[in-house]
Amino acid sequence: MSYLTVSNLTKRFGNSVILNELSFSIEKGEFITLLGSSGCGKSTLLRCIAGLTQPDSGYIQVEHEDITYAPAQHRGIGMVFQSYALFPNLTVEGNISFGLKLRKMDKDILQKKVKQAIEKVELKGKEQHMPHELSGGQRQRVALARALVMEPRILLLDEPLSALDARIRRNLRQQIRELQQELQLTTIFVTHDQEEALTMSDRIFLMNQGNIEQAGSPEQLYTCPNSNMVARFMGTYNFLDRAKSMNWLGMQTHNGVAIRAEAIVLDHPSLSFGEKVSRPILGIITEKQLLGNVVRCKVRAEDIDLTIDSLNNQFLPSLNIGKKVYLRLDPKACVVLNG
Ligand SMILES: Nc1ncnc2c1ncn2[C@@H]1O[C@H](COP(=O)(O)OP(=O)(O)OP(=O)(O)O)[C@@H](O)[C@H]1O
Ligand SMILES: [Mg+2]
Repeated sequence: MSYLTVSNLTKRFGNSVILNELSFSIEKGEFITLLGSSGCGKSTLLRCIAGLTQPDSGYIQVEHEDITYAPAQHRGIGMVFQSYALFPNLTVEGNISFGLKLRKMDKDILQKKVKQAIEKVELKGKEQHMPHELSGGQRQRVALARALVMEPRILLLDEPLSALDARIRRNLRQQIRELQQELQLTTIFVTHDQEEALTMSDRIFLMNQGNIEQAGSPEQLYTCPNSNMVARFMGTYNFLDRAKSMNWLGMQTHNGVAIRAEAIVLDHPSLSFGEKVSRPILGIITEKQLLGNVVRCKVRAEDIDLTIDSLNNQFLPSLNIGKKVYLRLDPKACVVLNG
């Protein structure tokens, strides 16, 4: 049974349709990531769910209660933004207790809840610090605690990690996921980072032009993109048009196929191939980039450029720019595109 239902939600700003009859539903405890290019409507969708923006039509239900036009503070929905929207003149404790004070909660209970929230986000000892005395990661944890302490039915996170450096970002995303699972908190998370989406989510919604282009598990979106747009967004895909798919792979398609960079094999005597792969295709290495355990080569083959990722094994150092190589593509690894 769905916990949050969004149905035919439409939002326009002037003549632009930002959300276009958008519909989806989410189960209790699910962690959903919204991915999509800048301006596709991710924040607008979260703001409609939170009650900060009013949609033009459609409805939003939580636990079968219609909240489309309910005031934000009565929805039971918490939101954390990209920028540190903390009150600069309040301490950590003051920031976290602010919402509960508005609820006129008993002082002892309030203090206990605030203490628990501070412990959950590992900010013990920082209670009396002011926001400017905290690091970026600590400030976002205050913002998270401020949302969690209200015990929201749904947590909305709008790029909460994007201003942080890579290491802190990885730590904090793991903490967020663990907390979310511990509390079984229904969460919608917005990010631009595919890796973040793939590692954190139960399901990913890929948005495009005010609608959901594809929804599914991280694995489904990564390995079975249903359109050219999703393939471009999700991984390092190469695209073969209809003629190339036929010529190289003998695959008859309408829109061609996509194949991931790691699914093209550089042919070499030291490598053995599985049974059914394409005929060898001659190419020339035009770029080479070491990505740690993977080497990424750009190869010009006939009239197209391909990106090929190979494990960094012994024979790869001999692959230099200008070298001729043979490629093999496994038709089984190709995704036929619908559009
Ligand atoms: N209050 C507003 N008035 C007019 N246009 C707006 C308003 N808020 C958003 N928009 C427009 O709606 C579109 C979607 O904006 P939104 O902030 O939802 O995008 P987004 O997917 O969150 O992008 P990003 O990834 O850059 O954060 C944009 O074209 C934006 O200019
Ligand atoms: Mg946004």
